[in-house]
Amino acid sequence: DTYDLIVKNADIATSGDRYQADIGIRAGRIVAIAKDLSGEAGEVIDALGRLVTPGGVDGHVHLDQPTSDGAVFSDDFFTGTRSAACGGTTTVIPFAAQQKGHSLQEAVDDYHRRADGKAVIDYAFHLIVSDATHTVTREELPRLIGQGYTSLKIYMTYDDMKLGDRQIIEVLATARQHGAMTMVHAENSDCIGWLTEHLLAAGLAAPSYHGNSRPMVVEREATHRAIALSELVDTPILIVHVSGQEAVEQIHWARGRGLPIYAETCPQYLFLSADDLQPQGDDHAHGMRCICSPPPRDKGNQQVIWNGLANGLFTIVSSDHAPFNYHGPQGKRLAGEQAPFNQVPNGIPGVETRLPLLLSEGVLGGRIDIHRFVELTSTNPARLYGLYPKKGTIAVGSDADLVVWNLFEPGQEQVLSHAMLHSACDYTPYEGQALRCWPALTLSRGRTVWRDGVFTAQAGDGQFQPCLRPREPVTGSALAKWL
Ligand code: URP
Ligand code: ZN
Ligand code: ZN
Ligand code: ZN
Repeated sequence: DTYDLIVKNADIATSGDRYQADIGIRAGRIVAIAKDLSGEAGEVIDALGRLVTPGGVDGHVHLDQPTSDGAVFSDDFFTGTRSAACGGTTTVIPFAAQQKGHSLQEAVDDYHRRADGKAVIDYAFHLIVSDATHTVTREELPRLIGQGYTSLKIYMTYDDMKLGDRQIIEVLATARQHGAMTMVHAENSDCIGWLTEHLLAAGLAAPSYHGNSRPMVVEREATHRAIALSELVDTPILIVHVSGQEAVEQIHWARGRGLPIYAETCPQYLFLSADDLQPQGDDHAHGMRCICSPPPRDKGNQQVIWNGLANGLFTIVSSDHAPFNYHGPQGKRLAGEQAPFNQVPNGIPGVETRLPLLLSEGVLGGRIDIHRFVELTSTNPARLYGLYPKKGTIAVGSDADLVVWNLFEPGQEQVLSHAMLHSACDYTPYEGQALRCWPALTLSRGRTVWRDGVFTAQAGDGQFQPCLRPREPVTGSALAKWL
């Protein structure tokens, strides 16, 4: 056969183009795109004029990470990547997290063991540098960057992860010299520590006080400091999980100075707010489900984040999938029903709902156009993390990672529920959200991994993707509306 598979009558949308064509796939790659492709094909799937986008690239996912407090992430590399695939994501970039006192190489070896034979879609790794010794910054990091680990995350808070400013500078200098992308978790650790101590001393320990322990100024200050360190060292950074206006203002200010400051936000800052940390009925622990850092803010801040998607401020949208079960002893209630907020594991699930929520409320809701959606969720993460153009677009030569979408007519919206999802996490924070779309079909390197509600991939089908050096992201003006 000329092709293993032809996807006919696709309404193809990339970050730059929109057109109708057939897509010819051989050996996992796109080998032809044309109107009315002819030639023998092992299988033909008629997309019937439906919207087809590049598979999602989720550049911020936590899978099977050991924790310092004994909490256990709900998803391993099988359940986490299964969940991703069913929601239209075909590449995830989880973290290989260094533990203090250990080498980066140990982390890399450990996470390869965790992923190998389990992932159902392709994956790369970011490094988390938590112990920036000279051996790490001068030997290990340069070697690993050269071996395809070209992005790293650093933390300004969390006792087991955080780096001081001097260490951050050392890491940024290495990233500059060797061409890596540095992601920064920007929250001021000492502010959080002081506020937490005083809240707990005053008996204010319920889940909702998590938000009070990390007000916007905590994120604003650290965002500004990260920008300053990036400017000092003269190297780009990406500020992860930006939650609201004051951090957005800092990034906007930095861009005005011509600094290469990139920014990520996540669905939780568009769809959740401080209200979601409140008790529900007699379930006093309910708010634990939405404890993540930075915390969800208020409606005004949600609007600022939407504006930043529309106006080009944000570079990527990732899930920050960090799932802990609500029921059972190893997740959110690790320290019990009445646990003070500072003993609740931070993070929420979202790898499967990222694309459907953003396509529903962003594109079909008229806030961003389809090209900006593809740019934020696929093309830009692929570019920033050195996977483009293998990932992140629909083009001849690219991997055949595609999503064929079902769009639901107005009045035919579906209600998002945990029962639909394929993560091992026992809840979704987005329960009850109206959905205007869901993937009808997800292809990962030409293999069907999700079709008409059925998951069809095998553990181990996913391959490790070594990353090239970062490329500049694209930024559409994105003000035109779709349709
Ligand atoms: O609360 C969060 N976001 N947990 C995941 C780890 C991180 O900081 O991204
Ligand atoms: Zn030094
Ligand atoms: Zn973080
Ligand atoms: Zn994270």
